[in-house]
Amino acid sequence: TTHDVILNNDVLIPQVGLGVFRTPDGQATVDAVHAALECGYRHIDTASVYGNEKSVGEAVATSGVPREDVFITTKLWNDDIRKHRTMDAFQESLERLGTDYVDLYLIHWPAEGWQDAWTAMQEIYRSGRARAIGVSNFAKNHLDELLAHTDVKPAVNQIESSPTFPNQDMVDYCRGLGIAVEAWSPLGGTGSDLLKDERLIEIGEKYGRSSAQVVIRWHLQRGLIVLPKSVRSTRIQQNINVFDFELDDEDMHRIATMDTGVRNGADPNDFDF
Ligand code: A2P
Repeated sequence: TTHDVILNNDVLIPQVGLGVFRTPDGQATVDAVHAALECGYRHIDTASVYGNEKSVGEAVATSGVPREDVFITTKLWNDDIRKHRTMDAFQESLERLGTDYVDLYLIHWPAEGWQDAWTAMQEIYRSGRARAIGVSNFAKNHLDELLAHTDVKPAVNQIESSPTFPNQDMVDYCRGLGIAVEAWSPLGGTGSDLLKDERLIEIGEKYGRSSAQVVIRWHLQRGLIVLPKSVRSTRIQQNINVFDFELDDEDMHRIATMDTGVRNGADPNDFDF
């Protein structure tokens, strides 16, 4: 049901992961993670700021799936970057997740002090407590600065990407640097009407798929790692049932024409949280 991509340090990452941004902590998160693991997901993407690491950890621990078979990502929050408390914040995430390592640890946003955070993250990586480290919401200027100083190349950059904001120039830039791209808000995000778009529905009818499956498939064929969020088990299941059909070139292009150039979330060079 799932398919792995290889990161630049040879670690394998399942190309579809369950996103849990805005999934309420507690039973909702436990249920979503259980539903995902039951239908074949082996990748969960959380963050310290989502407030649900504890439930993610509890769900993995009680799922019957061995910890080492699940790829867990979490992220270092901006306040912790600004306060230079990367090591403590990482340790707190591990404790909440109930694990002694994460598969991927990311700088959530390039908040002031991220350069120091990255130094600490390289230490975490070398200690083996993160199997890979990377960044999120890094623009070209941030990546250029990081690469000029680092010993460890970030494995991924997790950025906004969806049909209305493909972010294709950043995708290409990262790819050129050997950095894998993960898409957040791959379905347009909470409250978006993207999945009701007639063009996506029409393409879906051609393949016997939902508009969500079409969009996820479009990301996969662009080589991205996709992190769709849902709290509903039928949708969670639907969102990973995307490895047995292929969009043709015409449909790939048609989806790319939905680009509005307008972001759904914040600009990496202008955010205030
Ligand atoms: P819900 O959690 O109620 O299922 P993104 O991954 O871009 O952040 O988008 C997530 C949004 O899309 C959520 O509002 C989620 O709602 C909804 N969603 C996720 N999967 C599907 C699907 N297969 N069909 C319709 N809506 C979906």
